Amino acid sequence: MPGTVEDVDVPSASDVLRRCRELVRPALVDAVGRLHPWTGEMAAYALGWSDTAGTPEPGGSEGKGVRQALALLGAEAVGADAACAVPGAVAVELVHTFSLLHDDVMDADALRRRRPAVWKAYGTGPAVLAGDALLARAVTGLAGTPGDHAAAAVRRLCDALNDLVAGQAEDLRFEHRPWDGPGAVGPEEYRSMAEGKTGALLGCALALGAVLGGAPEPTVAALDRAGRHLGLAFQAVDDILGIWGDPATTGKPVHADLHRGKKTHPVLAALAGGSRAARELGTLLASARPTDAAAAERVASLVEEAGGRAATRGEARRHLDAARDALRATPLTRTAARELDALFAGLADRVM
Ligand code: IPE
Ligand code: MG
Ligand code: MG
Repeated sequence: MPGTVEDVDVPSASDVLRRCRELVRPALVDAVGRLHPWTGEMAAYALGWSDTAGTPEPGGSEGKGVRQALALLGAEAVGADAACAVPGAVAVELVHTFSLLHDDVMDADALRRRRPAVWKAYGTGPAVLAGDALLARAVTGLAGTPGDHAAAAVRRLCDALNDLVAGQAEDLRFEHRPWDGPGAVGPEEYRSMAEGKTGALLGCALALGAVLGGAPEPTVAALDRAGRHLGLAFQAVDDILGIWGDPATTGKPVHADLHRGKKTHPVLAALAGGSRAARELGTLLASARPTDAAAAERVASLVEEAGGRAATRGEARRHLDAARDALRATPLTRTAARELDALFAGLADRVM
């Protein structure tokens, strides 16, 4: 009911994110400060802290910090102090930054968060190296976590990294698969790819918080599952924004996925529809990749007409519901569970 004391107590997603960013910031700054000065400069640029001259850019192009927040809330949700999850929060944020650096090289995307991608600003070799530096620092930092949980935490992070790399491998290989016929990418293959490239790290973030908070395995597994569903919802939204997003908001160019022949959910769902628009779309995609803006625009409108956008919105909604169900089915502390719920809902709001 609106206006009750209960509602007043529920924080907004942005409040939760801000609180968590403030808690993690000193340790994240310390971790980046331990890098070689050159890779550290690129890392600071990638994190949105500074420009290419190394000059601080307060509030510039920083990410939301979803993964660090999930790690802290994962600990609080199992009754531990958020402070115990800070090494996990730093690790997942560094891994996320690493994965974006390398992803922009792989996808040949020149823009990220409204600025040149690191490989555009510094060169491909340096960007790859900066990604490597971030990854190494993430694992080193987590391995040095005080207490009894460092080994279990590192194992979980490495499991997620293996899934992330496998997801990226599938994503890249799918670019060369046909849109229809026996070689076409099926819904289960799409799901496995998206869960790997995006879901694994979000699941890991929540799970790491619980591991560092000393939670039993079933609770850790449930949080991991919730995060993976959140990742699938997230990726569905990302796929929508890649076709219909406003570059001024997303900070990324529109239609890049279409130009590259990425097997995104809206296009796959549209093709599966069987309508006249779906058939026309199939013929168009089979003849050539949309190389110019007009061709991409035509593909985008056929995808919409064939129901691809609506189907992907539904997919995002279903995974968001599954994520929230996984949380509700687990015994978690009340405040953290409500913050997680607010965070999950706020993230899905990006397009729904
Ligand atoms: C990125 O996937 C996944 C990782 C960085 C591991 P995408 O390539 O779909 O994401 P954006 O659109 O570039 O952010
Ligand atoms: Mg990409
Ligand atoms: Mg990619």
